Amino acid sequence: MRILLTGAAGFIGFHTSRTLLERGSTVLGYDNINNYYDPAVKESRLEVLRSFDRFSFVRGNLEDNETLSSAWKKFNPDHVLHLAAQAGVRYSIENPMAYINSNIVGYQNIIDLVKKYRPNNFVYASSSSVYGGNKKLPFSEDQDVSNPISLYAASKIANELTAKCYGNLFEIPSTGLRFFTVYGPFSRPDMAMFKFAELMRKEQSIPVFNNGKMIRDFTYIEDIVAGISAALAKPEINQVYNLGKGRPNDLMEMIRLLENHLGIKAKMDMLPMQAGDVEATIADISKAHKNLGYEPKTDLAVGVAKFGSWYREYRKL
Ligand SMILES: NC(=O)c1ccc[n+]([C@@H]2O[C@H](COP(=O)([O-])OP(=O)(O)OC[C@H]3O[C@@H](n4cnc5c(N)ncnc54)[C@H](O)[C@@H]3O)[C@@H](O)[C@H]2O)c1
Repeated sequence: MRILLTGAAGFIGFHTSRTLLERGSTVLGYDNINNYYDPAVKESRLEVLRSFDRFSFVRGNLEDNETLSSAWKKFNPDHVLHLAAQAGVRYSIENPMAYINSNIVGYQNIIDLVKKYRPNNFVYASSSSVYGGNKKLPFSEDQDVSNPISLYAASKIANELTAKCYGNLFEIPSTGLRFFTVYGPFSRPDMAMFKFAELMRKEQSIPVFNNGKMIRDFTYIEDIVAGISAALAKPEINQVYNLGKGRPNDLMEMIRLLENHLGIKAKMDMLPMQAGDVEATIADISKAHKNLGYEPKTDLAVGVAKFGSWYREYRKL
C-alpha cells in the first residue's frame, strides 16, 4: 500500500505508521506538529519513523489546501488514513475555532481530494464522544448520535455526515472509526494516563474528576492499530465502527495499576464532573468483530505495565 497518513506525528498516527512500515507499506506522513501538547513528544515519534526508508514526511496544515494537494499529487496514495485532528473534549469548550479549522475545514480539504483522486480506500478517525450523554450502554453504532455535548464531538459527527453525504453523492469509500480512550507507549500527554504519570513523577496531585466515579473502555494502542489495519484493507461505502475494548475499567483501578507500575503513590485531588465529559463509555464491538475480525486482546493490567515500562525509560526513572 501507498498510504497518505495525516497526523503521523500524533499518538495513534505514529503507531499505525510504524506498523504499516514494518509490514512493507510506503507511508507519507502529513502533520503540522502543532503545540496543543509538547511538540518534543511528536518529534521523538517522528525520529523513530524517519529510520524507515519508505517513510517520508511533509509538515503542513490540513487547512492549507495548496500544500496538502501538492503533497498528495507528488505521492499519489492508493490509501488514505486521516487521523490528524484537533483532539480533546475539554479544550474544545475554550478553543472552538481550533476544531472548526482542523476538523471541519481540514477534513473537507481531505475528503475533496478523496473525491478528486479516488484512492482505493479512505479511513478516518471519529470518536466515542459522538455518543454524547447517551445513557444506553454499551454504545453501539445504531444509536442516535445527534446529541453532542462538546464541539469536539460535534465536529466528529459532522465528519461522519460529510463522509456519508459523499458516499451517497459520489460513491467514495469511507470508514469512520470511533476510538474509545486509547492508551499505550508514546501516548498523548493531555490524556489521563500520561498526564497522571507526569504529575505523580513531580509529586503533584492528580485531578480526579467526578470523584473517581468514571468508567472508561480503555483500549490498548496495538489493538487499535490492528482494527485500523483491518479497516484499511476493506473498502466500504458509508461505514462506521466502534473500536474499543468492550470490557471497561473504572478510573480508580487505572490509577492503582499506574501506582504499582511506577512505584509512586498518587496524591489525588477529588473534583466534580467537568463540562463536556461523560461518566461512562463502553463499546459494543460486535460489528467490528464480525466485519473486520477485530478482537482486542490487551487487558488494562497488561497495557498499563507496557505503558509504565515505556514511561520509566522515556523519563529515565
Ligand atoms: N487517543 C484517543 O483516545 C482518541 C479517542 C477518540 C478519537 N481520537 C481521534 O483519533 C485521531 C488521532 O488521535 P491522537 O490521540 O493520535 O491525537 P494526537 O493529537 O496525538 O494526533 C493528532 C495529530 O494531528 C496533528 N494535527 C492536528 N491538527 C492539524 C492540522 N490542522 N493540520 C495538520 N496536522 C494537524 C497534530 O499535530 C497531531 O500530531 C484524532 O482524530 C482524534 O480525534 C483519539
